[in-house]
Amino acid sequence: MKNEVLEQLRTEYSSKSLDESTIMKDPILQFEAWFHEAIESQLPEPNAMTLATAGIDYKPSARMVLLKRIESQHFFFFTNYYSRKGKELLWNPYAALLFFWNELHRQVRIEGRVEKITSEQSDSYFHSRPKGSQLGAIASPQSEVIESRETLEEKFKAVANQLENFEIPRPAHWGGYKVIPSSIEFWQGRANRMHDRILFTLIDKNNWAIERLAP
Ligand SMILES: Cc1cc2nc3c(=O)[nH]c(=O)nc-3n(C[C@H](O)[C@H](O)[C@H](O)COP(=O)(O)O)c2cc1C
Repeated sequence: MKNEVLEQLRTEYSSKSLDESTIMKDPILQFEAWFHEAIESQLPEPNAMTLATAGIDYKPSARMVLLKRIESQHFFFFTNYYSRKGKELLWNPYAALLFFWNELHRQVRIEGRVEKITSEQSDSYFHSRPKGSQLGAIASPQSEVIESRETLEEKFKAVANQLENFEIPRPAHWGGYKVIPSSIEFWQGRANRMHDRILFTLIDKNNWAIERLAP
């Protein structure tokens, strides 16, 4: 692709604004308000978020995951604990989450420490998933090099046959993490690249500093 094509891509944002005087004082409530607007606007996969981690080599890596729960101000997602992200989080239990709701010209950045959730919490979510997803979690050694698509499908079939008449047990290597936010930034696109950016930084329990950043 020619770089001129990229250079000419340009969107003007002018729909909404974000103000210190009207923004909620609790960033989780503010996040939930924006999240509900994203759902009401019927955006595709509004709970899809980029998860960035960095392991022992300090080199960042990023991928999409789905936000599955917000509980006690923590953001939950589920994955394979032996995956690349799982290994990186073992070495360095800090992550950044990024939501981009393009149609609303909004971005939310969340940063914080990451902890595994309890096995009871993981069990409860695992058993709420469709059977095919449960089998997939057992069959797929996420992030490992595999021989071929066929071997993966054979593994899936073998696991499905083996567990046909049983409740599918959650594999110990699959479960949830929660991100405990220490900062949350709300970005609202505005005209002339004069966007609104409001940053919440945790001072202590439930007490957040609220600052405006230059766009
Ligand atoms: C929209 C979208 C949602 C995804 N949600 C998840 C998820 O919730 N959990 C997960 O493990 N992988 C999810 N994936 C796949 C990941 O992006 C990634 O391929 C996988 O987790 C392996 O990442 P890793 O090798 O960095 O650990 C999703 C991918 C997309 C495109």
